[in-house]
Amino acid sequence: MTTVNVLEQERTYPTDYSTLSLHTGIPWGYRTNAQQILAYLREQCALIVGPTGSGKTNMVHAILAGFARAEDVLTWVIDLNAGSAGLPWVLPALNGQIVREDGKPVRPGIDWLAGTFDEAMTMLDAAVRVAKQRKMGYQALLSKANTDLLPISAKIPQIMLVIDEGAEILVSPDRQVRKLGEKILEVIRIARAMGVRTVLTALGATGSVLSNLMIRREAKVRVALTGSETEGMDLSKMFPGSRGLRVDQAPYKGAGFMGTPESPAALFKAWRILPNQIREITAATSDRHPRLDDVSAKAAGPAYARRWDADRTAWMRDQAVSDDAGDDSPVTPGALRLSALNEQQESPEDALARRFREEIDAQFGTAPEPHTTEQDDVAERPVGLNLSALRDEQDSPAQQAALAALIAAGPAGTGASAIARTLADGFGTTRQTVVGWLKTWLTDGTAVRVGEGTKARYVHRSHTPTADRLSLVVPHAPHVV
Ligand SMILES: Nc1ncnc2c1ncn2[C@@H]1O[C@H](COP(=O)(O)OP(=O)(O)OP(=O)(O)O)[C@@H](O)[C@H]1O
Ligand SMILES: [Mg+2]
Repeated sequence: MTTVNVLEQERTYPTDYSTLSLHTGIPWGYRTNAQQILAYLREQCALIVGPTGSGKTNMVHAILAGFARAEDVLTWVIDLNAGSAGLPWVLPALNGQIVREDGKPVRPGIDWLAGTFDEAMTMLDAAVRVAKQRKMGYQALLSKANTDLLPISAKIPQIMLVIDEGAEILVSPDRQVRKLGEKILEVIRIARAMGVRTVLTALGATGSVLSNLMIRREAKVRVALTGSETEGMDLSKMFPGSRGLRVDQAPYKGAGFMGTPESPAALFKAWRILPNQIREITAATSDRHPRLDDVSAKAAGPAYARRWDADRTAWMRDQAVSDDAGDDSPVTPGALRLSALNEQQESPEDALARRFREEIDAQFGTAPEPHTTEQDDVAERPVGLNLSALRDEQDSPAQQAALAALIAAGPAGTGASAIARTLADGFGTTRQTVVGWLKTWLTDGTAVRVGEGTKARYVHRSHTPTADRLSLVVPHAPHVV
């Protein structure tokens, strides 16, 4: 079989779900000679870059499959794109859609999923506490084993933090999001010896991520998914010292280059993995996942213990189970995925508008639904936008959704075209219509325009009160990571 065929062909994830260990390596895909390539992640972090549609999220699923099979790994996933990278590993188990013959409940295939900003912050704080507590709590063990590297085992599992489009978080123009980024870097910096490592994916150009020393130094397991696009992919930066790698050698989805400290950069392909198989692996590995060790669990505290509580996972139940993976629709990076939303009794438009309100309310800690609060706890309402209360001020669900998109854009602001793209799937709204709404919002003070001509951005008034915030929206302002 020729090289090209191996890279071009789609191969599904192997159906052998036997037990793996972090110490013996986790298979991430295969070389052109069909040999599996292993990632050794006890001390390394990993970076996966690729343009949109090149197969990053599928690759994340293949990676999660390997972690699920490992007896000494607990996987915590952050995916601010409505959790789509983690949901297929969680929902079938939480919703009881996977049944076992012995009637025992099936554990989710990952140990924690953060699909919102707040939950991600909670998770990263817990990871930092775990790393610090492990250092103190395992002093005797380290000393006895004469090592400064915590011995990882099923009793003291490694925590793998997997962050889909995490590199975007590191370089976000939004100050809040960048706080998350700083936490991610802190975890990478302090937790290597204590068994917390990170897998980050990054969209497209590699320069901004790899300019970060911490990433360059700590993330030497690297994958470049080349897909069919070639722009902005600098293989010599990703794989320093490697020669003769050309993006056009692997113009297929899920194909590209992988290099690790043990295995020099070379062509590779990731297995394709679909929701059915994710369910199968979730069931097959349910008994195998370790428990967080007491020292760590204590440090992680209620934030960890209550991670599956109804109020913490409410956002998950609104997601469609069926189209989490294999979604071919082009999606604007950072846009809310309208196509992934799932409507029940409400009209599709009402459902979409409601989801937008909920998502934004959740993201900005705004007031609960008016009918749930009425008299009693008005005083206890968190200060926020109360987008839900705005619902009647806007003429249509599409307009509400546009407003939600404007608010979601934060201090960086957004433009008419971007909003129109976000609404295209769900409402078919044209750019022209959005321009009209933006004009109205400028007039009534809902939005402020920043910048001139083609660089004009619109910022919701809630993000504009002070001048220092405005300075964040200067287009192409250099930002320090
Ligand atoms: N290993 C693979 N083998 C075959 N086809 C694949 C593979 N990986 C991805 N694909 C195809 O490419 C499509 C896009 O994959 P995926 O959603 O993982 O890309 P992405 O890089 O995460 O894109 P986005 O930027 O939209 O998040 C998949 O729906 C699938 O059709
Ligand atoms: Mg993706």
